[in-house]
Amino acid sequence: MDRFHRLLLAVDPDLAAHGKRTGRLAADIAEKMRLEPDRIERLQAAAHLHDIGKIFISRKILDKPGPLDAAEWEELRHHPMMGYQLVRGSVPEEVAMVVLTHHERFDGTGYPHGVPGNRIPLEARILQVADAFDAITSERPYQPSLPVEYALNEMVRWSGTQFDPSVVEAIVDLAGRARWVTSQFGVAALDGIAV
Ligand SMILES: [Fe+2]
Repeated sequence: MDRFHRLLLAVDPDLAAHGKRTGRLAADIAEKMRLEPDRIERLQAAAHLHDIGKIFISRKILDKPGPLDAAEWEELRHHPMMGYQLVRGSVPEEVAMVVLTHHERFDGTGYPHGVPGNRIPLEARILQVADAFDAITSERPYQPSLPVEYALNEMVRWSGTQFDPSVVEAIVDLAGRARWVTSQFGVAALDGIAV
């Protein structure tokens, strides 16, 4: 698995850093949800690699400062399957499956297969929340970083449609602890948070 992380670091250090942050978040959520340590370890490994398929997507799309057009979306949507094809056979199947399913949605409208609810591996449902949370709170080509409070509100807004409600509940619960938020994001306590 390390060799894929090294590949990602060499090709796209920002994507590797996103994978690391997402892994830390996902592990905290998984711990809160009482997953066994070996599952948490595999989840963290999967988080590091989840977007590795993006190394096959054109830079023009990845760095585009505005919204993508239909053809660009179509290309971007191939990255979970490409990542899966790249790592399968070289990493545990559970890890490869998380790479494949990290853009499925709880309501079954995600991609690549439109698999709903509990048919998405729990590890992937946890990763989806951590991934979106990190994407919102980090700077992106088309958007500055947004506050933790905003990210949490988005998680709650999409609970039951995009995200598994039990995972949203876990991250909201974690964020209620000021020390966790400070260690994850280097920001002070969330007084008056509206979630
Ligand atoms: Fe992705």
